[in-house]
Amino acid sequence: MNTQKKAASPPDMRSTVPQPAIKPEREPGLKVSGLSLELGDAPILRDISFSLPDRGISILIGPSGAGKSTLLRCLNLLHQSWQGDLRIMGQDVRAWTGGEDALRRTVGLIAQKPALFPCSIAQNVVFGLGKKARKQVSGERIEQVLRQAALWDEVKGRLSEAASTLSVGQQQRLCIARALALEPAMLLLDEPTASLDPRSKQCIETSLRQMAEQMPVLCVTHDIEQAKRLGGQIIFMCDGRLIESGDSDDFFTRPERIESREFLRWSVCDCG
Ligand SMILES: Nc1ncnc2c1ncn2[C@@H]1O[C@H](COP(=O)(O)OP(=O)(O)OP(=O)(O)O)[C@@H](O)[C@H]1O
Ligand SMILES: [Mg+2]
Repeated sequence: MNTQKKAASPPDMRSTVPQPAIKPEREPGLKVSGLSLELGDAPILRDISFSLPDRGISILIGPSGAGKSTLLRCLNLLHQSWQGDLRIMGQDVRAWTGGEDALRRTVGLIAQKPALFPCSIAQNVVFGLGKKARKQVSGERIEQVLRQAALWDEVKGRLSEAASTLSVGQQQRLCIARALALEPAMLLLDEPTASLDPRSKQCIETSLRQMAEQMPVLCVTHDIEQAKRLGGQIIFMCDGRLIESGDSDDFFTRPERIESREFLRWSVCDCG
């Protein structure tokens, strides 16, 4: 027979002692897990994993051919044959409510080469909106997004002119304005200031910082000084692999990987 006395259970303090509030965990803005992609039988992205917070700037850097543009295209389902798991605000992009078109409205992608429609500057701004919304959009709203894209002052007197009359740098900013008109919840930008002069570059950087206060902004750049200025999180890729990611200050002052140090010193990487 067991003669040991049962230890008295501790009194239930739950009702008397205030419990610390349990904070609900915020979903990362983006979570990429084990992303791999082959194109034409060649491995282009290899087992990439990282996550981005639900707001703030992250910069994607790496040598030409590293797979930066391809990665952005996967996030927007422009490439679909990848393996792995992609979640935006906790939602699997392959099971996105409303399908691919809804995903692309929520996740704005500004491509490396500006792609405009054969219509006017103003019509290009509202092109992505539905037919009804396009008719209802106000001149103030068009002005607002063109200002955010640092283009308003250059086009305010010629909104009905063909968008093809703009310079390449202006076309790139028009693409940014078009993405913003859709009120995205996340922005992916592929070298958005590559063809811009220093003044326009500065305006775009200011806009990116403002947008990043409300949403995750992932920006590809080859401009290391710009990457340092924009700060946030750095993701360094080479040969389809993620080599190192982390806080911008740490990455630029104390890169952990030899490939990162080499890239920062010589702008090349031998990892392939
Ligand atoms: N549709 C495709 N079919 C086959 N290979 C492709 C395709 N698209 C891209 N690639 C290859 O994938 C690799 C990564 O290309 P990607 O455009 O993503 O590089 P990147 O890092 O954006 O380079 P850059 O800095 O020059 O823009 C390159 O070797 C490219 O040739
Ligand atoms: Mg590219």
